[in-house]
Amino acid sequence: MADDGEREEHVYKILVVGEQGCGKTSFIHQYVNHTFSKTYRATIGVDFALKSLNWDSKTNIRLQLWDIAGQERFGHMTRVYYKEAVGAMVVFDITKEKTLQAVPKWKNDIDDNLDNIPVVLLANKCDLAEQPLDKAYMEQFCKENGFIGWFETSAKDNINVDESGHYLVEHILNRD
Ligand code: GTP
Ligand code: MG
Repeated sequence: MADDGEREEHVYKILVVGEQGCGKTSFIHQYVNHTFSKTYRATIGVDFALKSLNWDSKTNIRLQLWDIAGQERFGHMTRVYYKEAVGAMVVFDITKEKTLQAVPKWKNDIDDNLDNIPVVLLANKCDLAEQPLDKAYMEQFCKENGFIGWFETSAKDNINVDESGHYLVEHILNRD
């Protein structure tokens, strides 16, 4: 029988990227601290957060979440932060078409810097959406751009936040 002393611990570096203001920092704060703020403060360069998951009776998982600034003027410096990540989230704002159009650019950045890591797509601010996204369109978009899957999320109302983290970790574990 495993006791605490025998628990395995995995530490995974996860990138969170996407256009300015799409809700990356808010998503992470909801995931880690269960809080939400309406006030927008742009991330400068990069921020960090740690999420511990009691995965199963034998496994602890610690996610190092790297919250990358969306602002273009930080673009050149932030690529260096991608190194050694084992998973990523690309976030867009469901109410701003332009942030979805920018998703392939963020995905290419990941693919240019890392060797085929699992990446999940998050359609954030779904609490503001007038109608759900077209599932067939999103599935095709994921296929074409090499995402493992997508979720409609709300950092505000805590919708699919744990679920998308769990989904990404499952894919990371399947590769170990
Ligand atoms: P950068 O750091 O500039 O790249 O932005 P970001 O992607 O980290 O965005 P941030 O989390 O700072 O959120 C931007 C604004 O959107 C803030 O005013 C948040 O309160 C708001 N916001 C984020 N997520 C949600 C959400 O799920 N629903 C709603 N209604 N507002 C959200
Ligand atoms: Mg931010």
